[in-house]
Amino acid sequence: MHLLTALQLKEPSLLFRLAVIGAQGVFVTLFGFSYIINAKFCHRFVGYLEEEAVKTYTKCLEDIDKPDGPMKHWQTQAAPDVAIRYWKMKPDSTMRDVILAIRADEAHHRIVNHSLASLRKDEFNPYKPGQ
Ligand SMILES: [Fe+2]
Repeated sequence: MHLLTALQLKEPSLLFRLAVIGAQGVFVTLFGFSYIINAKFCHRFVGYLEEEAVKTYTKCLEDIDKPDGPMKHWQTQAAPDVAIRYWKMKPDSTMRDVILAIRADEAHHRIVNHSLASLRKDEFNPYKPGQ
């Protein structure tokens, strides 16, 4: 959903979209094999990746909130429809609200992935589907 929101904002060229699909195909394939070899490592890796994402979105929010910053227009720019539907946001939500929702997602992904990476073999997944 993060990628779909970004795509709706930028409306990139067909070449760019194909490059994104290609990169995702390569990553999913390599990550899938890595997961078969060492799932704990993959969850830890994603946990750290998500931590970096939280920092990045925090920096983005700081840039949005700067009165003369390069991203100040996101204080008032309307959120894309796809974001409003997915996160069940108010119709007058802004891009700043979208970044807050995305950062909350990333923080949740961080906790889930570090939790799964820390599970012992005799422990069960503590998360139910959708949690
Ligand atoms: Fe994430």
